[in-house]
Amino acid sequence: MQKQRVFSGIQPSGNLTVGNYLGALKNWVAIQKEYENYFCIVDLHAITVPQDPKVLRQKIREVAAIYLAVGLDPEHCVIFRQSKVAEHTELAWLLNCVARFGELSRMTQFKDKSQKGGADSASAGLFDYPVLMAADVLLYNAHLVPVGDDQRQHLELMRTLARRFNHTFGDTFVVPEAMIPPTGARIMGLDDPTVKMSKSSPVPAHYVAILDEPDAVRKKIRRAKTDSGSEIKADPERPAIRNLLDMYSAMNGKSIPEIEAEYEGKGYGDLKKDLGEVIVEGLAPIREHALELLDDPAELDRILDSGAERARKVASPVLRDAKTRMGVE
Ligand code: AMP
Ligand code: TRP
Repeated sequence: MQKQRVFSGIQPSGNLTVGNYLGALKNWVAIQKEYENYFCIVDLHAITVPQDPKVLRQKIREVAAIYLAVGLDPEHCVIFRQSKVAEHTELAWLLNCVARFGELSRMTQFKDKSQKGGADSASAGLFDYPVLMAADVLLYNAHLVPVGDDQRQHLELMRTLARRFNHTFGDTFVVPEAMIPPTGARIMGLDDPTVKMSKSSPVPAHYVAILDEPDAVRKKIRRAKTDSGSEIKADPERPAIRNLLDMYSAMNGKSIPEIEAEYEGKGYGDLKKDLGEVIVEGLAPIREHALELLDDPAELDRILDSGAERARKVASPVLRDAKTRMGVE
């Protein structure tokens, strides 16, 4: 029986965080054997905001090392760089002619990101970001897209574009579905639990990075913002404690009620101390393995190149089909 396909990706910018791990990477590893997987390093998405070329090159290898270090196995997963498979940008152009200005204008990520630097100076690439993302997935006829909660709206647009294309030009693309984990899908900032933890924050105390040293992880968790009240209870009015409990639960698989019961009569300090250890236990082996892999950049490049070759074999006939249907092939 043919396995269904999975596609997902992470931008090689900033420092990959425990949010990327819990919202995305950990789930990719968990399902990899059941599917035929395409895990992409989406460098063309990263350049929709300014990047230093030297740093970007380094970050691409870093993400590749982390993909492998969390346990993605090249035998089950095609791991590659988006920019090495030109079909992505070519299909994005075709889909640009199917997507509507109005629907792209309503994307909250574009509104948020473009507001930061002034909407007038945001790049056209940033506006077009969700169309390239749709091309990424549709090119492989992927059924499932494992992502964090912040990608819901992009996934909806992707489904709309697939349906509209199929309706206009005949059945071409699989209409993909989001796969969002029940816990850990939206990890919030340690310094401000009302905003999503972001790997491009300039404030290191905002996030735990996958490559942070164990002592830095412990310290960051210890110093994480707390809310008033001392009870260890997941109360929607107390986003800080909710976030710590979410991380705890997503990290070690215990349910939130179980954790609440364990910490009855205990305080924030106890929870933070143990959470620091739980995160270190989960991330330290990944960090060590990733650092080892980074010692051999040529081998990482080889894995990425061979991934791109495998990806192209699947992407190329799908692109040709889409072009034929539109009358440009
Ligand atoms: P990005 O960091 O924007 O490249 O996101 C890569 C993947 O990580 C996507 O699937 C996101 O939904 C997921 N992700 C990013 N930040 C978080 C977060 N704070 N909590 C949970 N998932 C996240
Ligand atoms: N937009 C995603 C994010 O920032 C990254 C991404 C690009 C992606 N292309 C994708 C995720 C295709 C899933 C599938 O999180």
